[in-house]
Amino acid sequence: MKKYFGGILALVLTIAFAFASIASAGDAANGEKLFNNKKKKCKTCHKITEKKKIGPGLKDVGKRHTDEWFKKWLANPQKTWEENDAETAEFKKWPERYGKKSRAGKKKTKMKLSKKYPLTEAEIGDLIAYLKTL
Ligand code: HEC
Repeated sequence: MKKYFGGILALVLTIAFAFASIASAGDAANGEKLFNNKKKKCKTCHKITEKKKIGPGLKDVGKRHTDEWFKKWLANPQKTWEENDAETAEFKKWPERYGKKSRAGKKKTKMKLSKKYPLTEAEIGDLIAYLKTL
């Protein structure tokens, strides 16, 4: 009996860790729903192709940013804009991708999220998982 116990324990732990990592990685399918939800407004300003709308086209955006940056940005774009860490400073040049002038000197970001329907931490996790599939 003792012999099996170790095996069962290992199995239970493996399953528990698998679930924990799924939970913390965010649900990309739900992220897509949120992205397309009119109340959350992402789609009002972003295309998921390379094409610019009000904000940059989000194709390959997962390759441009760290998870930490995504979290900060989606939680508070204006605060992140003002903090201006190295990643944000680089990102402000984005209009150059479309042959336009960098936004580096601007005091305010144009990314204004809905105040009425703010993003929860779980929603931010799901959105990040989705953004990384683009
Ligand atoms: C009112 C327009 C607007 C809305 C709404 C909006 N964004 Fe943005 N977004 C922008 C702009 C503009 C930028 C670039 C920053 C700037 O120039 O001020 C940006 C930048 C980004 C970036 C970085 C893109 C890159 O190329 O590095 C991500 C990711 C992003 N937005 C995701 C989202 C998500 C997810 C939502 C919905 C929850 C959202 N945005 C809603 C306008 C918007």
